Amino acid sequence: MATTEENLNEAFAGESRANRKYLAFAKKADDDGFPEVARLFRAAAEAETVHAMAHLRQLKAVKSTAENLEAARAGETYEYAEMYPPMVEVAEAENSPAALTFRYALAAEERHASLYAKALEAVKAGRDVETGGVYVCPVCGNVVFGKPTAPCEICSTAADKFVEIQ
Ligand SMILES: [Fe+2]
Ligand SMILES: [Fe+2]
Repeated sequence: MATTEENLNEAFAGESRANRKYLAFAKKADDDGFPEVARLFRAAAEAETVHAMAHLRQLKAVKSTAENLEAARAGETYEYAEMYPPMVEVAEAENSPAALTFRYALAAEERHASLYAKALEAVKAGRDVETGGVYVCPVCGNVVFGKPTAPCEICSTAADKFVEIQ
């Protein structure tokens, strides 16, 4: 039988997945002309976030910001160095269009890891990281510090399409 810690990890993963899926379903319901169905999906998505956060608290997975940055950097590094390369390979062998999705994510995760490393350096020195604004590419998930002036280095999306994060 699974331990409570294992159950919390599984429940956290499931609730997190449901949150993103319901937001995608909400968008589709809006596009299809069902705004109240969209609202229901968004409400359920918010509720799943409440559950996910409660499970995460039980797991005591949120630590100091320095520890959190280190955990985030390690997670991103695992994704780009170990998780995505074989996924790209299999998708290419299957001629699946997911190869591009995986390649975009792989390249973006590598940049996320280096931004986390930069932030960690600042926090360890007792200061906040200097960004000049944080922007996300809506196509590949590339994150950059400072307002982009050139197309995305990963997917060539135009600089003005990047979304500024508050
Ligand atoms: Fe990432
Ligand atoms: Fe991009």
